[in-house]
Amino acid sequence: MEIKSSNRTLFPCFFLLIIATNMAMRGEGLKFNKKTGEFKIVQVADMHYADGRSTGCLDVFPNQEATCSDLNTTDFLYRVFRAENPDLVVFTGDNIFGFDATDPAKSMNMAFAPAMALKLPWAAILGNHDQESSLSREGVMRHIVTMPHTLSRLNPDGSEIDGYGNYNIEISGPEGSPFINKSVLNLYFLDSGDYSTVPSITGYGWIKPSQQVWFQKTSSQLQKMYKSAPHAQKESAPGLVYFHIPLPEYSSFDSSNFTGVRQEGISSASINSGFFATMVEAGDVKAVFTGHDHLNDFCGKLTGIELCYAGGFGYHAYGKAGWSRRTRVVSALLEKTTDGQWGGVKSVKTWKRLDDQYLSTIDSQVLWSKGPTGRRKKSPSPTPP
Ligand SMILES: *[C@@H]1O[C@H](CO)[C@@H](O)[C@H](O)[C@H]1NC(C)=O
Ligand SMILES: *[C@@H]1O[C@H](CO)[C@@H](O)[C@H](O)[C@H]1NC(C)=O
Ligand SMILES: *[C@@H]1O[C@H](CO)[C@@H](O)[C@H](O)[C@H]1NC(C)=O
Repeated sequence: MEIKSSNRTLFPCFFLLIIATNMAMRGEGLKFNKKTGEFKIVQVADMHYADGRSTGCLDVFPNQEATCSDLNTTDFLYRVFRAENPDLVVFTGDNIFGFDATDPAKSMNMAFAPAMALKLPWAAILGNHDQESSLSREGVMRHIVTMPHTLSRLNPDGSEIDGYGNYNIEISGPEGSPFINKSVLNLYFLDSGDYSTVPSITGYGWIKPSQQVWFQKTSSQLQKMYKSAPHAQKESAPGLVYFHIPLPEYSSFDSSNFTGVRQEGISSASINSGFFATMVEAGDVKAVFTGHDHLNDFCGKLTGIELCYAGGFGYHAYGKAGWSRRTRVVSALLEKTTDGQWGGVKSVKTWKRLDDQYLSTIDSQVLWSKGPTGRRKKSPSPTPP
């Protein structure tokens, strides 16, 4: 093909456009809903899936044991997916309970089946039990990334990083809106590890410096793009962070300042690797979502970031008879600009769904909302002493 000189000068622009478009596609083109301006995420924590029908339930009433198995976990997935019709499902680890999984790949295929059958985009990260069968953590994550409809990725390209399953997903504005090529909601997924590998430190794993560097870099690039033309924004797009093991900062609350319940201790790592401070400094993170402690389901706000649990989902996971298995839903809503188009994110709300007869909705709350001037609302500052 002959290239005219006028076309040749367009070439560099073309490449830039391709690069920019590729960057905006991290999430395979997930978009806000054009009609409702909403993007909805269902978080499934701690399914503890094993062999399916032959795997029994923990912590149900004695008269429920005979009829209860992993298939009850599957039923709950179908019920909540049909009720909420989410735009994305996030499985936050201990998706399978390795110790009891005869074939971990099969267990994963069964555990994630409802999301795949309903063709829902889904993302998964690892907990501390996923690798306890015949697949390593790397093996588990490598299996996950090949499954239908998943947006999960192994790790960022070209950077040395600890763990498996550190990645981000960008959600763009609706079709036909000025924000179609911009990520207006940023999701970060990290591998919080399993157990300490440092002999002098006991207990659970933590988010390592290499992962925090990747997070910082990604957050800063996303913020830069959001604040650049076209449609340069003043504020950052809100960020939501998902991983398995709660941070030590989850211990900052009591019932006077959280929504939900705390019925067991906070099982974080025994040292603080500083990820909370890293997120505060990054400035875009509005909420963090973990699992791991099945009997805690609260959200509490510390230094502008909501720290949330989902509460346990799976029936082969420990729980509490009479206290329903549950899931956390997050809904982000766009604002309308003065010319009637969809703009950036206006608010992020959450609620939980219980696996009871009514699929009850509880603890609805606003996690974050944009102030009227585009700035985050200031909480009243205490009078100085
Ligand atoms: C598990 O599912 C069976 C079959 O649908 C049902 O009869 C039973 O009540 C469920 N058990 C629990 C604990 O939800
Ligand atoms: C979005 O990108 C596409 C493809 O690069 C372009 O054709 C379109 O004009 C862009 N839309 C907006 C609103 O920026
Ligand atoms: C929650 O309230 C308790 C006192 O009841 C206080 O010690 C704690 O610092 C508060 N936490 C936050 C994050 O405000």
